[in-house]
Amino acid sequence: MFKKLAISTALSLALVPAAVIAAGGGEQHIEDVDFSFEGPFGTYDQNQLQRGLQIYTEVCSACHGLKYVPLRTLADEGGPELPMDQVRAYAAENFEVFDAELDDYRPATPVDHFPANTAIGAPDLSVMAKARAGFHGPYGLGINQMFKGMGGAEYIASLLTGYTGHEKEEAGSILYENTAFPGGWISMGPPLFDEHVEFRDGHANDVHHMAEDVSAFLMWTAEPKLMARKQAGFVGVMILLILSVLLYLTNKRIWAPLKGKKVKQG
Ligand code: HEC
Repeated sequence: MFKKLAISTALSLALVPAAVIAAGGGEQHIEDVDFSFEGPFGTYDQNQLQRGLQIYTEVCSACHGLKYVPLRTLADEGGPELPMDQVRAYAAENFEVFDAELDDYRPATPVDHFPANTAIGAPDLSVMAKARAGFHGPYGLGINQMFKGMGGAEYIASLLTGYTGHEKEEAGSILYENTAFPGGWISMGPPLFDEHVEFRDGHANDVHHMAEDVSAFLMWTAEPKLMARKQAGFVGVMILLILSVLLYLTNKRIWAPLKGKKVKQG
């Protein structure tokens, strides 16, 4: 048994360098952002999600869909929390969906999902913030993730701010140099520029702020129940703590008659 264990340990250690090489790739630069939803008690910032929604709608939705996200969830607690009448107006104003019954397009309603959109090969963004990891190292082992989280939102924010301004043409399409994208060259042109989106409350609208806002929004689309999950985890830990104390006290009590007595020698 021990021999087998030793062999498999030695083997897995020998395999690590191969895994490191596989996970390695280009030098990606991911900026660590202090998002409000991080940490054990982190919550989404409702205003930030609303700004992110506006940026997604005015900029990203031209190419990217969010087909797994029901529009009605914009009213959910813990999300952007738009009042239902605003959700209704937002859906009708911004999106059209194909209705099989009408055999025609009609304005979207809250029961519909955000439309799919894969214009020019742009991927759906519904769960992108969970599909990408921002932090890997050291050596691609993912140890950083224990301290900083997966970093999906950071990856998107870094991607949006990571353009160097260099372009090249390859096989008839233009590629843009980007310090966050694996491989360093992405076919999405820089989607954001300063003052691209005007916020009603006059919030900062430089590329950096907008990149963070839309990334927070995409984190919410990927994990809308984050806050509920954290709360459930917290309650779980509390229950376990109480149980441990009870167990300790019960144990003491059960053994008290025996432990209290000194056994007489001889
Ligand atoms: C003009 C069309 C267009 C717009 C507008 C656009 N994108 Fe993209 N996006 C693309 C294309 C095309 C790709 C695929 C790039 C590739 O794989 O080389 C892409 C890829 C991505 C990816 C995935 C990168 C990866 O790791 O595979 C993310 C994240 C992303 N876009 C976010 C955004 C956000 C956020 C916005 C709005 C601020 C936005 N995009 C606006 C066309 C667009």
